[in-house]
Amino acid sequence: MAEILTPKNPLRLVVLISGTGTTLQNLIEHISARKLPAEIRLVISSKGDAPGLDKARRAGLPAEIIERRRSASLEQFSQAIFDRCRQAQADLVCMAGFLHLLQIPEDFQNRVMNIHPALLPAFGGKGYYGLRVHEAVLAYGCKVSGCTVHFADNEYDHGPIILQRVVPVLDDDTPQSLAARVFAEECEAYPEAIRLFAEGRLRVEGRRVRILPRPRR
Ligand code: GRF
Repeated sequence: MAEILTPKNPLRLVVLISGTGTTLQNLIEHISARKLPAEIRLVISSKGDAPGLDKARRAGLPAEIIERRRSASLEQFSQAIFDRCRQAQADLVCMAGFLHLLQIPEDFQNRVMNIHPALLPAFGGKGYYGLRVHEAVLAYGCKVSGCTVHFADNEYDHGPIILQRVVPVLDDDTPQSLAARVFAEECEAYPEAIRLFAEGRLRVEGRRVRILPRPRR
């Protein structure tokens, strides 16, 4: 069944992090430069010592810690997170370097996005995070890599793909140099996908996400 999402301005976001928060920082900068019609209502970190928490606090954003290890099950962990998302009245939940699987409840289907630093379905799934992704791309001998923004579902790096951007892999690349080239594309792709969502221009048809044209004025 196709679903058209209604436009929202500003779009209310909850951002989920586990680590350094560079993706969070990029969203903060896009919002403050008025390039993204959104507000971050809450940042939730799955790690108490995630450096991304400082980035949230420095930007004056409310930030909370919900640690996976404190929940007895994935169900409980997911419930704790989505309860807070509901309280924060989130229109969209953005995973930003968030390292855990979640069980997405009915009311958040197609309302959770993730960004992955490779061209899915290659080099995704459990264990593919951080530099490991780029090491695997280089070890395989790929000539291109890139990033994927997708709706999250109940499997790692699996839901319907919204946008992908491609970068070349160069002969002298290291995992770090490739990561930097991919990250530069991530910094454009994630805000672009969120903007399309805010404009109500994403239509999910099974695994396919259609991008609707801008409405005429
Ligand atoms: C990015 O490569 C992103 O694709 C992935 O996590 C990395 C960023 O982590 N999902 P962080 O935002 O620096 O914690």
